[in-house]
Amino acid sequence: MGAASVKAAKGMKDVLPTGVEEHFLTGFWDKIIQVSTSVLEGHGFRRVLLPAVEETRLFARGIGEDTDIVGKEMFTFERSGDSLTLRPEGTAGAVRAFIEHNLDRIDPVQRWWYFGPMFRAERPQADRYRQFYQIGAEFFGVASPYADVELLLLLYQWCQKLGLDSVQVGINTVGDDESRKAYRDRLQAHWQAHQGELCDNCKRRMHTNPLRVLDCKADLASEALKTAPDIMEVLSDASRKHFEVVISELEALKVPHERDPRLVRGLDYYTGTVFELTAKGLGAQNAILGGGRYDNLVEDLGGSPVPAIGFAAGVERIARVLAQQKTRHPGPDLYIMPMPGAHRRALQLADEVRSFGMQVEVDVSEGRLKKQMKRADRQNAKAALVLGEDELVNGRAKLKYLDKSVENDVELHGKAICLALKEMV
Ligand code: HAM
Repeated sequence: MGAASVKAAKGMKDVLPTGVEEHFLTGFWDKIIQVSTSVLEGHGFRRVLLPAVEETRLFARGIGEDTDIVGKEMFTFERSGDSLTLRPEGTAGAVRAFIEHNLDRIDPVQRWWYFGPMFRAERPQADRYRQFYQIGAEFFGVASPYADVELLLLLYQWCQKLGLDSVQVGINTVGDDESRKAYRDRLQAHWQAHQGELCDNCKRRMHTNPLRVLDCKADLASEALKTAPDIMEVLSDASRKHFEVVISELEALKVPHERDPRLVRGLDYYTGTVFELTAKGLGAQNAILGGGRYDNLVEDLGGSPVPAIGFAAGVERIARVLAQQKTRHPGPDLYIMPMPGAHRRALQLADEVRSFGMQVEVDVSEGRLKKQMKRADRQNAKAALVLGEDELVNGRAKLKYLDKSVENDVELHGKAICLALKEMV
């Protein structure tokens, strides 16, 4: 017997074309990346590629010492006397790069997006991983509420293009510094009066981070939470005006949303508008995306004052929603199965069809037809075509639509096959 095999580390997953849980299938991931790229680039966002490792103090200063992420979830290690951390999120690194390259002074209006792995040493559970992937965007340099509106409109279009049914958009404001300070004081007094009803974690947090008590799952049903003051009671005129424009424009643009007075987010850099998208069908970890305004962060990390707003989506969770909705897992458009003597023509034909933008896979295994057919199914090909002696002689073949179990007789050249493939959608 060989040595015990090595498995992936706890909370880390493989994404493969087949053979894994449905939401780790490459096809869903490709679709998510493709749609996100097209929607984001369509709104003028340009991709940035940033290091997966940053100096630890960036996150401590950026995300906040008293957050769960910095307090207990960072993968931190020492190298040559430096303390380094695998990025737990993308915003702090983006702001670091923005300042490092002097964009805060030279060219502060920037629309960036990124896709990449993030690392949080959380207790792994359903939809919560230690390495997970985010698609995120950061929009620097614009303080106007129309930047918030544009991002939320973009996200609405993104959900539609991905075909995500039943996504809810929760929105709130955490106000400017003045409002947040007043709100903290008011909340602290409220928690003090209701201390007995709070969990141990919140008894501590009410002093260090009183806003976070608002989204404590353990205390959800308590009187303390039910009767908690609303930030609207203490919102400054400027913050109120900003938030009112956001809400009224979303209404005018028919972007569905719901105000959630308890939405405060788990990172400390937010100011003003905050939002989360949640999906039905996921369990406790139902947030597929979170974001908001962070107008102080560029300055807090050593840059000039530059307002910003952004969001990040969790790819694993979106893939699971797609899988649950029974979205078709995308495979090649066409799978060609050549019989002996037909391989050369099959390879040529595949190229002809590819020249029309289709994805084509040729089964070059020289295996039995039954086996090839099985593979076409497993690849989730849209259509399959057998190329044997008769087909070569007649110049025609049967195009089999695998989803629908119907066939169509087609001429054996690229354009005809491509048209038939398009017709079947
Ligand atoms: P976040 O809410 O911490 O925000 O993460 C955004 C999304 O990443 C979550 O809604 C969730 O879908 C996914 N996510 C977070 N942790 C995990 C995990 N352990 N396993 C699987 N998925 C996870 C941020 O990260 C901010 N940087 C967003 C932002 C950008 N705000 C402004 N700009």
